[in-house]
Amino acid sequence: MITSKELRDKWIKFYTDRGHVNIGAVSLIGDGTTGVMFNVAGMQPLMPYLLGKKHPKGTKLCNVQGCVRTVDIDSVGDATHFTFFEMMGNWSLGDYFKKEKTKWSFELLTEVFGFDKNKICSTVFEGNDSVPRDEETAGYLKELGIKPENIFYLDKSNNWWELEGTVGTPCGPDNEWFYPRHDKPCCPTCDVNCDCGRYVEIGNDVYMQYKKLEGGKYTELENKNVDTGFGLDRLLLFLNGLDDGYKTDLFIDTIKLLEEVSGKAYGENESDTKAMRIIADHTRTAVMLIGDANGITPSNTGAGYILRRLLRRAIRYCKNLNVEATSMCAVAKIFIEKIYNDAYPLLVEKEDYIIDEITKEIKKFEATLAAGLKEFDKCIIGMERKNAFMKEKDPSYIPETVISGKQAFRLYDTFGYPLELTKELAEERGLTVDEVGFNEAFKAHQELSKAQAQAAKGGLTEQSEMTIKYHTATHIMLAGLRKMFGTQTMQKGSNITEERLRFDFNLDHKMTEEELKELENFVNEVINKKIDVVKTEVKYADAVKDGAYGVFSADSDDQVVTVYTIADVDKQICGGPHANNTGDLGKFIIKKEESSSSGVRRIKAILR
Ligand code: ALA
Repeated sequence: MITSKELRDKWIKFYTDRGHVNIGAVSLIGDGTTGVMFNVAGMQPLMPYLLGKKHPKGTKLCNVQGCVRTVDIDSVGDATHFTFFEMMGNWSLGDYFKKEKTKWSFELLTEVFGFDKNKICSTVFEGNDSVPRDEETAGYLKELGIKPENIFYLDKSNNWWELEGTVGTPCGPDNEWFYPRHDKPCCPTCDVNCDCGRYVEIGNDVYMQYKKLEGGKYTELENKNVDTGFGLDRLLLFLNGLDDGYKTDLFIDTIKLLEEVSGKAYGENESDTKAMRIIADHTRTAVMLIGDANGITPSNTGAGYILRRLLRRAIRYCKNLNVEATSMCAVAKIFIEKIYNDAYPLLVEKEDYIIDEITKEIKKFEATLAAGLKEFDKCIIGMERKNAFMKEKDPSYIPETVISGKQAFRLYDTFGYPLELTKELAEERGLTVDEVGFNEAFKAHQELSKAQAQAAKGGLTEQSEMTIKYHTATHIMLAGLRKMFGTQTMQKGSNITEERLRFDFNLDHKMTEEELKELENFVNEVINKKIDVVKTEVKYADAVKDGAYGVFSADSDDQVVTVYTIADVDKQICGGPHANNTGDLGKFIIKKEESSSSGVRRIKAILR
């Protein structure tokens, strides 16, 4: 058995022995410069240096870098997909190139890890109009002793590496390393191209000599770089002769714990096994994201929303497995205290905070889950009724089986149901969700919010002192509502006159007398504390990272937005203006609470 710790150490030792400097890992949270939310590859933080900037640590670097990829979150639950993984990397920044790189990768695989050179397969770029066939790499591979029949020339879809959806980023042809899991071909033509799963990709050497331009064009870089990435989770599984990533030391203790609390055996039943994997995987990623140096917390926007989705999906699977969602805290503790304590000491420092954030999200979600389930059932009953009615009228009628985008959006907007959750609930009942419709409803809603924000801004040109105070009062009130009912509570409309505020927000029930009193008291307490209202201008991504929210949606992460902060009470992205101090507002009195539209409540209040 080789442990994850030994594997990390071996990687670093191999490359530092060969003149590389270990640069350590950076934050998992993207810095907003590349258009991706999380660090999705080891090369990402090195982007400027691959493009030519001088790196302070030299031209030969290595590290082990955490990455988060949520694109194929739906595949998580099988044996080999994870939303967090570690990439072992090394780089040449205009230093060595193909000759040295092929030699080192080969040495590492055969001498350090004991792979049989007769079984190693390699794929190289077959070439196209702009980039030549990579005979050079193939030549070195053959010299090293890789059998010619184990070298494959493949096209751009296979042997070209670039960060999808980005421009101005480095890229190039690559040399991928494969190894068979066993010696039994599935058919006479079973090789690396076969999708039977016998060959596993264990690593990738990218020869990054190009820069990606607009419109799918490329330009040659002055410096010839190497970007290597070997997935630690994958290699660990492979080196230990396992075919299930959850059986390595990175997961096994969390799976054992889930077996204990559920009384079920891992691997025995497909749906329980899937649930255990999802709970373990998503909890691990949540721990990493919350405990990161630039840690985030669950929210309704950006990276925070992805974190929320991961946690909520895991909570759902706790229900499927029939264990308390708080089991996730026990799972998280194993990751923090036992599995990643050495490699990520910050997690240990932030342990209480991480557990607290997970616990808070569990509580919030459990409250909304119940309300949303009722709403979901209503949709189903409505659909069933309609189907029965139509069938009676017309026996050839094909029953509806799709939950509309609007309904799915309402579940999201009012009850905090991530789309995946609605999809899963639908699936359990043999139904599907109109995802295109959901995205349309989502967009329409964003545009409406934008328009509202602009309208609000426009109206403020003739703001009087009084209307400005009312505006600040709405912020404090919304903070109170979010505290009472959860952060899915958002502004749905606002209308302010000299005499009163009128404020709409999503909530699934009529507020009780007690709740109204609690809200009123909350606002008056904040007023009495005489807190300064602080205005700052920051990049949208930073505002969101900092926990700011609002009906505003930025065109880009870099857009500079205005944030108004009322100490730890409230932090909103908002055009303003606002009162300078909450003490200026006077006494806050709620006059009325009523329905505004379905799932939206309206409060009228005055300041005296
Ligand atoms: N950047 C390369 C990859 O992610 C090494 O595969």
